[in-house]
Amino acid sequence: MAGPDASHVQVGIVGAGPAGLLLARLPDLAGISCLVIEARSRAHIEGRIRAGVLEHETAQVLRDVGVGARMDREGLVHHGLHLAFDGESRRIDLHALTGKGVMVYGQHEVVKDLVAARIETGGAIVFEATDVAIADIESARPTLSWREGEARRSVTCDFVAGCDGFHGISRGSIPAEVLRVFERVYPFGWLGILARTPPASEELIYARHEDGFALLSMRSPEISRLYLQCAPDEDIGRWPDARIWEALQARLGAAVGGKLSEGEILQKGVTAMRSFVAEPMRHGRLFLAGDAAHIVPPTGAKGMNLAVGDVRVLARALERFYASGDESGLVGYSKTCLARIWRVQRFSWWMTQMLHRFEEDTPFDRRRQLAELDYVTTSPAAATTLAENYVGLPLDAGGHK
Ligand code: FAD
Ligand code: DHB
Repeated sequence: MAGPDASHVQVGIVGAGPAGLLLARLPDLAGISCLVIEARSRAHIEGRIRAGVLEHETAQVLRDVGVGARMDREGLVHHGLHLAFDGESRRIDLHALTGKGVMVYGQHEVVKDLVAARIETGGAIVFEATDVAIADIESARPTLSWREGEARRSVTCDFVAGCDGFHGISRGSIPAEVLRVFERVYPFGWLGILARTPPASEELIYARHEDGFALLSMRSPEISRLYLQCAPDEDIGRWPDARIWEALQARLGAAVGGKLSEGEILQKGVTAMRSFVAEPMRHGRLFLAGDAAHIVPPTGAKGMNLAVGDVRVLARALERFYASGDESGLVGYSKTCLARIWRVQRFSWWMTQMLHRFEEDTPFDRRRQLAELDYVTTSPAAATTLAENYVGLPLDAGGHK
């Protein structure tokens, strides 16, 4: 394991989100040295409220690397979810259709568990690094450099993993002529709140409503997590708490059989929505993983799960390389990941188009949306396609092969 003063590490990791932290843990268990460089403070990354749904296999990966104990104690295992539309709420029985469920456990809790595990084993994370730069990715000795206070520091690496999210610097380190970008920006965002009130439903409710989409989720038996479709550049100042509750009551009230219980709003924020893929995910000795390479709209609850999928593929490839010199996993990394990523992109787009209000939609489109929801909640075949994607496609070989 590399200390913070090492001049060379096997794997230099940019970003301490779920992707970077898990990647630091997996090869570390195989004795491969890693260093993690993060732009923000520990308190910031541990308090950042984001995703909440872990696929069946994502939860298993966390157990496999020894950070699943608190998740298994405090997380909520869900065997179904609800789709609400046209005044009704219908259940998709994930477990009956797939034999699997999902784990509701906050991303920031996963981050806390991974940071604690790394620090406990003496692993280095440099927090609050500025001016992070990656150089010489086409050489055998790429360099990671950053500023810590007044001091400029650097390490050489065998490989660099760009796990620094959508706004990080890694993707831009790949020459523009090599990178191909596929993108769709949606004409709406989500306004998300965390509220001190018991969830009004034991399971998640995804609601399609004439006013726009709404989602009921939770973090614990006392804390609700709720989302509303809003403008992509919505000014949160225009949403006092009373207006948020009013909109949530209108969109979710019928689905919970009356009123949502209201409570203190602990946090609120707006997220814009896009579908985005950058190809290839490897150039020279730089590997992109997670949001650095791709973004999905959150309707399918897939972003963090995709990050974990990439990292699993990369960690295995690195382990094989260091154990036997076999480079095939590293060479195939981008292709292996992209096969799965595109399936997940399709699912996330499909859930988004089925559940949101698009201003340009005609009355025909609205009826078609309702027919799709009716079909997916009554046909076992259609419900199974939703369920098998929601609990997670297999991590290996891009899906069902
Ligand atoms: P990030 O978590 O973004 O981590 C990147 C890290 O790199 C950050 O810590 C950042 O500070 C750091 N960084 C950035 N730039 C630099 C730099 N130059 N140098 C060093 N460090 C840098 N996903 C799901 O799976 N399920 C869900 O239910 C879900 N719901 C979501 C709800 C919302 C409202 C949002 C916003 C997202 C949701 N997602 C969900 C998506 C999920 O949060 C992301 O896909 C996930 O965070 C990706 O992890 P990552 O490690 O790739 O990137
Ligand atoms: C949550 C977020 C999502 O994007 C989703 O699809 C389901 C749940 C959440 O934050 O709990």
